[in-house]
Amino acid sequence: MRRSLTGIKPTNLPHVGNYLGAIRPAIALAERFESFLFIADYHALTTVRDAEEMRRHTYDVAASWLACGLDPERVHLYRQSDVTEVFELTWVLSCLIATGQLERGVSYKDALAKGEAPNAGVFNYPVLMAADILLYDADVVPVGKDQLQHLELARDVAARFNHLFGEDLLRVPEAHISEAPLVPGLDGQKMSKSKGNSIPLFDSAKKLRKVVMKIVTGSESLEEPKVAEGSTVYEMYRLVASEADAAEMKRQLEEGGYGWGHAKQALSEALEAEIGPKRERFEALRSDEAELDRILQAGADRVRPIALRTLDRVRAAVGMRVRG
Ligand code: ADP
Ligand code: TRP
Repeated sequence: MRRSLTGIKPTNLPHVGNYLGAIRPAIALAERFESFLFIADYHALTTVRDAEEMRRHTYDVAASWLACGLDPERVHLYRQSDVTEVFELTWVLSCLIATGQLERGVSYKDALAKGEAPNAGVFNYPVLMAADILLYDADVVPVGKDQLQHLELARDVAARFNHLFGEDLLRVPEAHISEAPLVPGLDGQKMSKSKGNSIPLFDSAKKLRKVVMKIVTGSESLEEPKVAEGSTVYEMYRLVASEADAAEMKRQLEEGGYGWGHAKQALSEALEAEIGPKRERFEALRSDEAELDRILQAGADRVRPIALRTLDRVRAAVGMRVRG
């Protein structure tokens, strides 16, 4: 079975955009691939400065994915930091990457453009990410467009390694650009933690309803016909409701006599139907950190032998002793 691999930074409690744009599609993809899904905690360390926050978000992310249906018996779910072999490959790869290529990195350039003084972790971020991928012979990496440059670098360095040290030593991965839609936030812009426009995935049903009511809409009267497409309420509704229900909402909005308040009510019910059962599972999982640790460590134990085999190949190829 071909392998897919992706990393999630533990930097926030997931919101509805993360769920519809990343979690749900990745769980669907796991049907067709041997899937590797890891919590990229050492990547998060480029920005997170609080151990408690790192721990909390690591459990939040693990419990969220499990609650949304990820089966840890089938998907390799692990913490990046539990398989420290990744750093050995990071070093080897960094010896093959020109600093100029890292200087052109989008995140690094963005940080400089904002007048920040980025740390070396931000500069080297793409090298660690390449190692994450190449260590496990991933065939495909599902990523958002913002990660494409990182993936290009991973492909480049794998090809360079093979060219220098021997064909087929490292598998050259392909990007799998997510077809998942961009989920709009309360203000109609892309839902994002940092924009303060997000709907938390696992707040109480009551809070969920309250937040949905805050979605910005047009100010047409109840009677007036409304344009459904492009409106935040309808665009979000069609991601969670059945096709027939979405068509019905569109018809009602366009006909008039159906207000944004009605549409929000329908949206909050559809979201609750989708999220409610997952919220209960989330709460049960999240309250048992020892069990989450056990699941994550079992995942790491399962993937470590793959990492060690890749490193053996790499060590032999570059002239280091193979530990066997
Ligand atoms: P945020 O923008 O809130 O910081 P992240 O950048 O941590 O979210 O995103 C984590 C994952 O969720 C990525 O795969 C990203 O593509 C996906 N994602 C985030 N926001 C959205 C959104 N509004 N619509 C669709 N997918 C999203
Ligand atoms: N950089 C990714 C992000 O910000 C997270 C990540 C780390 C990742 N390592 C990875 C994604 C390897 C895919 C493959 O979302």
